[in-house]
Amino acid sequence: MDGAGWEAPGREGGWVKGGWIGRGPAGSTAWDPRSIPRTARGAQGAPARREELQGAACPLLQPPSMASPMRNLLTDLDRYVQSFRVFLERSTEHQSMQGFVERHLPDVIASIGNGKSTINVLSIGGGAGEMDLQILSKIRARYPGATINNDVIEPSADQISKYKERVAQASNLENIKFAWHKETADEYESRMNAEKKTKKWDFIHMIQMLYYVKDIPATVRYFHSLLESQGKLLIILVSGKSGWETLWKKYASSFPLEDLCCYVSSGDLPRMLDSAGLKYQLYELPSHLDITSCFTEGDKDGELLLDFLTETLDFTKTAPPELKRQVMEELRKPGCSEIRDGKVFFNNSQGVIVVEP
Ligand SMILES: C[S@@+](CC[C@H](N)C(=O)[O-])C[C@H]1O[C@@H](n2cnc3c(N)ncnc32)[C@H](O)[C@@H]1O
Repeated sequence: MDGAGWEAPGREGGWVKGGWIGRGPAGSTAWDPRSIPRTARGAQGAPARREELQGAACPLLQPPSMASPMRNLLTDLDRYVQSFRVFLERSTEHQSMQGFVERHLPDVIASIGNGKSTINVLSIGGGAGEMDLQILSKIRARYPGATINNDVIEPSADQISKYKERVAQASNLENIKFAWHKETADEYESRMNAEKKTKKWDFIHMIQMLYYVKDIPATVRYFHSLLESQGKLLIILVSGKSGWETLWKKYASSFPLEDLCCYVSSGDLPRMLDSAGLKYQLYELPSHLDITSCFTEGDKDGELLLDFLTETLDFTKTAPPELKRQVMEELRKPGCSEIRDGKVFFNNSQGVIVVEP
């Protein structure tokens, strides 16, 4: 494991009374993200940004022209997964998370299973299971006698099949039962509502998936409501101090989000959680992504990385030349990246938020 780049995190958090933003009671003056165009990556965090988006000239209010060939990357889940895998190969994303799992997860899960013979874990957007298995191994180490039920909500069949292969090859998963559900977080909620079920969970995690739900505060609220009295909700998002924030703040309106995702960073969560009166802790995980290949024309991995960075299917082929030129220039700038030994390292820092029950 490459733990390079890991630093002791800063901690913040606290209780603030208030109602939920987003789905507050009627007449609530709380900020309502549903009133923001879905293409507002980078703009979810503040009313000031919303006002900016409501200006008449705001391109966000003028959805990408029907003639635009640009499509959201999630319209092709296979290519999305392909580009995510290249992203994982070229970044220290999972290594940084692993640092968190080693150093901080044991404290986070210290009491989730006290007095229980069965511990229920819900993974939302679990991908191919790399991080899930690391989390499970810590839970198992803390509660060696307990049975662990691990349910995975994941819409990509390819990711589920990779996850199953990983489980089949692993040797230390005794007492852990897996169930995979090929569906999105929103579909899970609808299914549970239709079945009138409210199954509770001791640990719920959503690692790098909250961008893809329809209503972020409502999703956090729903899954938080499913926590057992000693349960924990773990959320990982790109950090508000990362290159993602710089890139998306500037170019969100030019990328074709098509209601499939929206930008949110860990910097946006405190406001949302404070309004809900929820207690939480924040951790910052340094991480970088080598994007050097993005600058070599025709490089297939570079093209996939550009797709992932812009959430655009075939960005190099479909983006207007001027947008491409500007994005490529932006990616090299200090707000996004650092250039070392001729390589371009994009700031991929992540924020971890642990929400109390
Ligand atoms: C960036 S990947 C993260 C995967 C994994 N958690 C990790 O960190 O390695 C996002 C995952 O969320 C899944 N996903 C996409 N839309 C989703 C949704 N609406 N609900 C749940 N998962 C979703 C994707 O298929 C993908 O596996």
